[in-house]
Formats: sequence, structure tokens, C-alpha cells
Amino acid sequence: MNYGYFDEQRKEYVITNPATPAPWANYLGDPNYGAIISNNAGGYSFVKSGANGRILRYRFNDCDDPGRYIYIRDCADGDFWSASWQPVGKPLSEYKSECRHGTAYTTISAEYRGIASEALYYVPQGKTYEVWKLKVTNTTEENKKLGIFGYAEFTTDNNYSQDQVNLQYTQFITRTYYRDNRIDMTINERCREEYNGSKRANRFFGMAGADVVSYCGDKENFLGLYNGYGKPQALQDGKCNNVLNYNANPCGALHTEIELAPGETREILFALGQKEPEEAIEILDSYKDVKTATDNELAQLINYWHGKLANFQIDTPDANFNAMINTWNAFQCFTTFVWSRAASFSYCGERNGYGFRDTVQDIQGILHLDPEMAKKQIRLMLSGQVHNGAGLPLVTYDHNPGHEATPEEPEEYAKRIDHNTYRADDALWLFPTVKKYIAESGDIDFLDEVIPFANKDEGTVYEHLKRAISFSMNHMAAHGMPAGLSADWNDCIKMGAQGESTFVSFQLYWAMKIMRTFCEHKNDELYIKYLDTEAEKLYNNIHANCWDEDRFIRGIRDNGIKVGAKADPEANMWLNPQSWSVISGVATKEQAEAALESTWRELNTPYGAKLLSPSYNNHPFDGSVMILFNGGTKENGAIFSQSQGWLIFAEALMGHGNRAFEYFKETSPSYMNDKAEIRKIEPYAHGQFTESTESPFAGRSHVHWLTGTASTVMVGCVEGILGMRPDLNGLEINPSVPSDWKEFGIERTFRGKKLHIKVENPNGSQGGAREVWLNGEKLEGIYIPANAMLDENDVKVIM
Ligand code: GLC
Repeated sequence: MNYGYFDEQRKEYVITNPATPAPWANYLGDPNYGAIISNNAGGYSFVKSGANGRILRYRFNDCDDPGRYIYIRDCADGDFWSASWQPVGKPLSEYKSECRHGTAYTTISAEYRGIASEALYYVPQGKTYEVWKLKVTNTTEENKKLGIFGYAEFTTDNNYSQDQVNLQYTQFITRTYYRDNRIDMTINERCREEYNGSKRANRFFGMAGADVVSYCGDKENFLGLYNGYGKPQALQDGKCNNVLNYNANPCGALHTEIELAPGETREILFALGQKEPEEAIEILDSYKDVKTATDNELAQLINYWHGKLANFQIDTPDANFNAMINTWNAFQCFTTFVWSRAASFSYCGERNGYGFRDTVQDIQGILHLDPEMAKKQIRLMLSGQVHNGAGLPLVTYDHNPGHEATPEEPEEYAKRIDHNTYRADDALWLFPTVKKYIAESGDIDFLDEVIPFANKDEGTVYEHLKRAISFSMNHMAAHGMPAGLSADWNDCIKMGAQGESTFVSFQLYWAMKIMRTFCEHKNDELYIKYLDTEAEKLYNNIHANCWDEDRFIRGIRDNGIKVGAKADPEANMWLNPQSWSVISGVATKEQAEAALESTWRELNTPYGAKLLSPSYNNHPFDGSVMILFNGGTKENGAIFSQSQGWLIFAEALMGHGNRAFEYFKETSPSYMNDKAEIRKIEPYAHGQFTESTESPFAGRSHVHWLTGTASTVMVGCVEGILGMRPDLNGLEINPSVPSDWKEFGIERTFRGKKLHIKVENPNGSQGGAREVWLNGEKLEGIYIPANAMLDENDVKVIM
């Protein structure tokens, strides 16, 4: 069953049935002002941080309320409804609804009793407030008098948990005022700026394009007790009581009345933000002409986002694939890039910074679209590297390079961050990310840029990378593989501080190979020698200890017992070691084929491949923390979506286009569009995991939007399936696609040059390019040197 469709022309997802199986969200804004909105207008807003800048309330894990509500009331008989289906929830037989989620804007249209409405929500480009614009049209034959009510439920404190739990304090620090068409709301208004850790703040909710007839600044007074958001007292009464808040829950509610002749349209605007009154006045003044101002701002937003996406657009025979790569997976990559794991309907905003591994991975998802934007974040993450080479587990929003405490000073460090030990993998993610950045941009000089370490010292990027390798080399364990320390990618596996993870070993091996290419560029012979010797040892150690017949094991605990051995009663087959053995280049051809075959045989389900199988149940060990989860869930054997990206990539590297694409289809949100009742979450956004066939709800996905899945699947598709493989000097094109694709096209920007790529597949190959032509000339091999590219290039690839 579906609830909507992809409108690729407009790069929108259109929800035609508002009774979706979960709130289907969209993101508005930028790092300075964020807003999440569902297809029923539920959601919240925050300045910079979901944890410490929360402006609008949202009840997590409940009924998708409150939200950015606009109510419409027919003054003739008092019937009222909302511009989004919820919260009033008129019968869908009488109420028509369509929600269009676009790139950083959402429109929700409705038609009820001959009144058509369209609520447009966005954060203007570069601004730190939000706009809700309502367009209402009278499609009936008679004159209509309508009451329009906007409702915003403010938090009482910028800190999310204070607002929720510290009621003996936060209920008594706010007031609301009515001034010139707006409600102003203050927090700690008597203190100057900051007092005892509390901060003074002002928010506003204002109206433009019409005159306020009545208002309310007190939540309970607007809603009335026991009415809920669906039947506010003010709507029942036809007006607000002009009551303001003093010692209770604040809100902004503004009411106006309009008369519409048959066929007539009116536009009214609400704006909301955390601003001093003078600025609020200026903002509202800028919308004197509501239509022109909002049309311009919307066009600006669309140009900005579509401009970014235009750097990589594909046209393949598969519409679902196109929709993900061209629009939705790409937009999700930007979203995770900006908000990491901080603010969604699952993440309440408590994580106040960038998880090291998550963010370094997230960067990879936008590299082919905006390498400059990626570079800034790479810099930040490099400055989150401790001078010993390890990554700080969390780089906080107020990160102060050169002055951060480290896990070596547990008292200092733990004051701010709850993870107070190093992970074995964090800094190793830098290698593919830095390499992809340099390959994509051609900015090889980046290696020489000097960047501070988190706690002290500074060094070039090249030096940072060397130290990352040293960190692993200084923590080698019994079998000559890197010690597990606190964890690897899998938060739920603890092999012991001296345990060894094959995943990290593959990462280190790959890191050394990448580093070698940088060393070659620098003619750093000594270090090349060192890397070659160490890489060979590591390779041999992995082969001696980790191959088990037709699979790689997951690791070796500090007591010497193997995890993920074929004979284990549970968890005897793990996904990541198989895909990573291929990605890292450690697996021989035979091993790679066997490992991927075992993966298909033992882990695959209709919804993707499981993270491990069978899940832990009767045979956990001390460090198998995932036993806490039900079988087939999260790290305990779910289809952990991030890992699907690596699997797609590994299959594609092996030239298995059919299987790579099969895995894409199984886990792609878009492919579940017609089974939305099974998947539940948005058919246009990846989630963290999908319940496996062990669950009675197999196929149900969770933890929408903010997940590393966005970037790994993107890389798996762009570099893997589509075969765009840049290196320091140019671009290799080597697709692995379904054998029934006869041809496809890619329009992309590469180092500022335009490439119009046409791929032909006359013989139904599933992997490997045979010929590459550049501007009419056949090249040697399948590699386009960057210096052979003109400003505009026609590229023909024959598979
Ligand atoms: C979550 C975490 C990520 C971790 C993964 C696997 O996605 O954000 O850091 O690698 O789970 O445990």
C-alpha cells in the first residue's frame, strides 16, 4: 500500500494520504536554525542545537504533536478544521489533503467545504527564523467569512530537558506580551544576559498580511483543558481571549478574520523565531507583500538546493534509483551532515556535538555534491583528533581545538562527555574521507594544511594521518591486529581492551594503502617502506587468524576466543567482515567470492542482509551487548542499514552488478513505497535499521533520517554501482549495474568541469567498462586524467 509518490520533476515527495503509518518528516533550515516538520505539521524548531536551543515543543514517541498548526473556521456555522489534516482530523471522505516535501520546504494543501488552502513552511535561506505561509481560496459560489488561527507552542526553556522535567523552575520564568500583530515571549526577562547559567531569551510569533483580531499567549487558555489540539477552546468560541502567560505554559496564538468572494484568494503569513522585538518588527515588515516576498524566498531555496544536487544527476532505467540518488538520498546526506545524530523524531537532541566516526563517515555522502562544504567539516574533525592520533569520541558544538580535555584525563573529560575512552576505529575513518575529498576536488595541497590537534600541538593533515596510523600501531594486540579498545564501529561489541576486531584490521590495512598514495605524492620513501612492511604483516596476520572456510570471523576476544567462527552456535556469520574484506583489498579473489556468496546465502532477507545471524539468544558472551535487544533488532541481527551500503559497494567492486543492485532494491526506501504499511517510516529516507525475518514485524524500519546509512548507501551507489571512482589524478569510470540496463546517463561536475556521461551496455554486462571515450577520442583504459578534461566534456563509456 502506498501513501504517496515521487515527483522527480519538482524533486518533491507527494503524500496523498495523510494517515501515514508514522509521521513522515522533512527538514528545514541550516546549521543556525533547524526545523523538523511532519506531513501533519507536527514537529519542532531549534536554534543551532536541539538540546540547548529548543524553541518549539514536541512530544516524542506519541501522537506527532504539537506542531505548526493553522486552523481555519467558517464563521457562518463555527465548523473548523486545520490546514494540515491533523490535529483536527476531519473525515478523509470530506477532507482532501496533499503534502509535498521538497528540498528544505514543505507545502500542505487541503480542501474542505469548498475552501482550498495551502500552507507553505520554510526557513528563508541564510535566515534564523521560520515562515508559515497560508494561501486560502474560496472555491464556492458564495461569499465566505473565515477565521484563521495560527498556533505555536513555545518551550519554556532553551534546554530541552529543562522544559520537559524541571517544571518547578521553568514554569515560572516566562511571560508573553502582545505587541503589533505578534506575541513576544520572554525567558528570564529580568536578568541581563546570563545569570547563574540561565540565559535571557526572546521569541516571537507574528502575523503579516492581515490584522490580528484576537490573541492568546497562554497554552491552556487557548486549548482549554481536556480538549487537546483537535478542539481548541478558542476555535469552539470563534476567538481567543486575549490572555497572556504569567507562570504557566506559553504559546503564540493569533487570530484574524478574512472575507473571500467566490474564487478569491488571500495570503497570510506567520513568522516565528528567537529574536528581540526590534528584529521581529523588521522581519514582519519584510513581508508586507506576502506573495512576492515568499515567492522570492521559495525560489531562492529551490535554486540553492537544486543547484547543489545538479552536481550529480543520473538518468537510469530505474526510477526509484534515480529518485534516491538525484534527490532524496542526497538531501538526506546533507541533513545528516548538518545535524549528525542530534535532532529527529527519534533523537531528542541530547547529543550535543558530532560523534567522531559518524561525522567522518557522513562527510563522504556529500563529497560528490559539494567538496568545499565537506572540507570545512573535515578540518573540524581533524581538529578533534588528539595529539596521540586517536579521535575524540565526541566533538562538541563548542569544540575548542588545542584546548580540549582527552579521555586520558578522565575527570576533566567525563564532565562533558559520557563516552570517556578511545575507540579503535574512530580516526581510521579519516583515510577514506580525506582521500575521497582530495580525489573529488583535486586539492592535494590540503595534505599540507596545518590543523591543531584537539588537546595540544598542531600538524599538517599529512601528519594527522600519520598519527592516526601510529595510534593503531601503538595499540597492537596478541595476534598482531589492532586492539579493540572500547569498541569498533559496532557500539554493541566489546572484545575487551586487548581484543582484536577484523573490521578495524581491515580498516587499518585500507588506511595504509590510502596513506601510501599520499606518501608517493610526497616521495616519502621512508614511510612507504614502513607502511609496506607493516601492511604486509597485518595482511598475513589477518589471513592466519581470521579466515574460516567460507567467511571472515568478526574478531578475537582478549581471552583468545574467536567471535563469529563458523562453528559457533550463534552469531556465526557476520556481514561487515565480509564486505570490508573486499573493500579493504585484504580478501583474495576466491575469498571475496566465497565471503559474498556466504553472505547472500546466510544473511539475505527480502529487506536486505542481516548484520549477523543467528542473533544472540542463548550464547552471549560478556561483550555481546546486543543481547539486550530482541532478536532481529538493532545490532542483534537486524538489517542494520548502514552496512547495506558497504555490501552494495563490495558487490560492485567485484563486478557483481546484479547483486549490488538487488541489495540496493531490498533496502531502498523508495522500493518500499508500495509497502509503506510494512516499512512504516518515510519511503524517501533511510532509517538506522529494519527488523529482520526473526521479528514478527519483519520489514519495519526505525530511527529515521539521521543515520550513517545515508552516506554509505550513497557511496555504494555512486562509487560502486555507477562506478565513479576518482583518485588523486583523475576519474576512473567502472560501473557495475544490472545486466538488463541497456544504457544510462550521468551529468556531473568534477573539479569544476562538466561531464556528460553516456554509458552503453550492448552485451548486457553486469560489471566493468571496456572503453572510455572523451570528447570523441578513445582513451587508453577506463581512466580520464583530470588534465585531459575541458570545461564541458562528452564522455562515452562502453561496458
Ligand atoms: C549507530 C551509531 C554508530 C555505530 C552504529 C553501530 O548508528 O551512531 O556510531 O557505528 O550504531 O553500532
